[in-house]
Amino acid sequence: MTHELTASRLASASSNATASTGAGDAAGDAWWRDAVIYQVYVRSFADSDGDGVGDLRGVREHLPHLARLGVDAVWLTPFYVSPQADGGYDVADYRAVDPLFGDLSDADALVTAAHALGLRVIVDVVPNHTSAEHPWFRAALRDPAARARYHFRPGRGASGELPPNDWESVFGGPAWTRLPDGDWYLHLFAPEQPDLNWDHPEVAEEFASVLRFWLDLGIDGFRVDVAHGMVKAPGLPDIGHGAQATLIGTEPLPFFDQDAVHEIHRSWRRLLDSYGGGRIGVAEAWAPTSERLALYVRPDELHQAFNFRFLNCPWDPARMRTVIDESLAATASVGAPTTWVLSNHDVVRHRTRYGSLDRARAAALLMLALPGSAYVYQGEELGLPEVTDLPDAARRDPAFLRTAGQDGLRDGCRVPLPWAGTEPPYGFGPGGAWLPQPAGWGDLSVAAQTGDPHSTLELYRAALELRRAMPGLGAPEAGPLTWLPAPEGVLLFTRPGFACTLNTRPAPVELPAPGRPVLSSAPVETDGRTVRLPTDSCTWWAM
Ligand code: NOJ
Repeated sequence: MTHELTASRLASASSNATASTGAGDAAGDAWWRDAVIYQVYVRSFADSDGDGVGDLRGVREHLPHLARLGVDAVWLTPFYVSPQADGGYDVADYRAVDPLFGDLSDADALVTAAHALGLRVIVDVVPNHTSAEHPWFRAALRDPAARARYHFRPGRGASGELPPNDWESVFGGPAWTRLPDGDWYLHLFAPEQPDLNWDHPEVAEEFASVLRFWLDLGIDGFRVDVAHGMVKAPGLPDIGHGAQATLIGTEPLPFFDQDAVHEIHRSWRRLLDSYGGGRIGVAEAWAPTSERLALYVRPDELHQAFNFRFLNCPWDPARMRTVIDESLAATASVGAPTTWVLSNHDVVRHRTRYGSLDRARAAALLMLALPGSAYVYQGEELGLPEVTDLPDAARRDPAFLRTAGQDGLRDGCRVPLPWAGTEPPYGFGPGGAWLPQPAGWGDLSVAAQTGDPHSTLELYRAALELRRAMPGLGAPEAGPLTWLPAPEGVLLFTRPGFACTLNTRPAPVELPAPGRPVLSSAPVETDGRTVRLPTDSCTWWAM
């Protein structure tokens, strides 16, 4: 018998699942341990006013999509006042909304509307650097006596013409820029993003106040940008061999993953806990090993840390299994769940990284079957590919400009979402879209995929509904993940009452059915005793 399992059949079959409003599992302070959190890249999500740039009202109007998808929370990328030198990760006023995105009343209304739908709201905080337009940096430019909140140094060389050390910017070129008066300042990212000096007491005080500002507005947590970079090694020592900072790196560096950074996260945890209600901190942290990364989620530090080793893992089952095992062991050693992620606004979309939609769909089911929390980047639920042919003139990634187009291709994953219709801007808003959308994206729109049982959107909806309905899925507390023997190229693991298979072989493979199939990224054939798994497919089984 051919058992073609479709998302719609599953959805109607699992009528005892909790309503997919996001409200079910979101109760309780530990909600985040197995939460699915949706990343909204605000400028590319939905535009309400026709200027071609997404905004907070656009997010609010489209919250029902997220509630129906079945996620627990939303993470909003920076919407604060900013010259937008790095997509808003250059903040000039941490307590105000940039007019591009709306105003504070829009933020307030968005949080209220999300909560009414059972969705929590996490906002970005950018504490490693400010914008060069921040009042502190403007004061520092005017007055050398006002420079202690940043890292200013004299240069090296006979007349100070060389940078103070050999550090390079993540976006290319030296990590130092010289002012006309001769002093240099540090910027691990663009020159418009000067690094703060966290040894200065006013920096810590200011950020505690900023956190309180947004917590008082009702937000449920923070995604902490560059959480591993806020403290630099004393004396700002040379690296010595020309090593360059990268967004995703594994080498110990004097400006990343310094032990002293944990003291800051401890103080933030105390602040979050003082609010109660399950407010969380999420580390965007790069550490040389899974063990070092786990230090960020010790019980008195942040709650989650993105597992970028999983994101970086190629389509290779042996390596995937190793990363999964090492990640689970590392976070278990500190009593934390693992936080899985496949895509975000800084990396090539995983459909394109893995080379096909089949693999992207399979990877999503694999991720959502793992114990712990998971992040979904906007558009991955539509199976969007990376846009690889953007005209140079349209690109905004600062790294693209700083490396003569050799790097910084982060615009291709930031193309505005298709919601409906057959022509750009595909319902993104009443005007155009700030990055050109490809022809043919109408077929990938939310409207086009809704109700199509074979669509990626319905696959994600069904997966998230099942995650709520089956206790063996997601919740780390439900029990261990156990690997079972499987043919080469196939992964097979069980959790209580549940099994997951992944076939990465170039041909279908037959094996004993581990149970009853409840969801599959591609049609599986089973007679109840054996199953034929298609190439590049992932299947969930009830046992
Ligand atoms: C990480 C953010 O995700 C990225 O978009 C940004 O460019 C850097 N941090 C600098 O803030």
